[in-house]
Amino acid sequence: MSNVTIKTVKEVDGIRVASQMAAETLIGVGKILRPGITTDEINTFVHEDTVRRGGWPAPLNYHGFPKSVCTSINEVVCHGIPDGRVLEPGDIINVDVTTIFNGFFGDTSATFYVGTPSAEAKHVTEVSRRSLDLGIAQVREGARLGDIGAAIQEFAEGQGCSVVRAFVGHGIGRKFHEPPQVQHVGKWGNGMRLKAGMCFTIEPMINLGHFDIEVLADKWTAVTVDGSLSAQFEHTVVVTKSGCEVLTRRKVRLENSENFPDPFSADVLRSSAAV
Ligand code: MF3
Ligand code: CO
Ligand code: CO
Repeated sequence: MSNVTIKTVKEVDGIRVASQMAAETLIGVGKILRPGITTDEINTFVHEDTVRRGGWPAPLNYHGFPKSVCTSINEVVCHGIPDGRVLEPGDIINVDVTTIFNGFFGDTSATFYVGTPSAEAKHVTEVSRRSLDLGIAQVREGARLGDIGAAIQEFAEGQGCSVVRAFVGHGIGRKFHEPPQVQHVGKWGNGMRLKAGMCFTIEPMINLGHFDIEVLADKWTAVTVDGSLSAQFEHTVVVTKSGCEVLTRRKVRLENSENFPDPFSADVLRSSAAV
């Protein structure tokens, strides 16, 4: 019944290379991000950095998307289109990088702080960061797809936030989007059993207010209906027997986003190795 493919070791190697390229480009975004730059400048950086590494930016012309990266500011949930808008102190911005290399895709995003965030902006951003980590922590062979959504929903709603339903994580490989759909809400024990070699993204979009979204007249930009702030983080993972490998794991901390140690940072890996 399931059309979810199990990737071979060579296929996972290909997805890992593309994923690490996307991760490196996202690290670069953190370095250039500051008040006063435009989302078009982020787009130019992502396009040129991706090409310099020998890859290609998957969003460009994907179902007609006009730019090389998605930039989603404040109440924009996802699929924001880079333009001349200038980043202002206090904005939060998700930058979603997807790299194609040698026929394989790697997909990762993060929300960045422009200057000093408000308490509300910090809350929704940190809840979304932790939601992704908790979703990832559920992944292992034999777990259920619904466990990922349940872990995310339980935490995010407990923090007074809501989980967007209209967009989901997705299988990935030689295609940008393939089965399964990875919902970020769910019930414990429900859904497909995960098997080693499945590759998919987890990318919870968390709103400070209601989860309802609407798509603007440009046919892409998704915003919260109530105008509340929204934040998102995304990783590409491969299921293993004992857990998962985060293929888009960063070896250094993101500037302008990760202000405390996160479970997949080099800092934490070093300190746990020392125990
Ligand atoms: N990167 C997005 C995702 O996580 C998809 C963007 S599609 C685009 O699935 F066309 F807007 F780029
Ligand atoms: Co994705
Ligand atoms: Co993405």
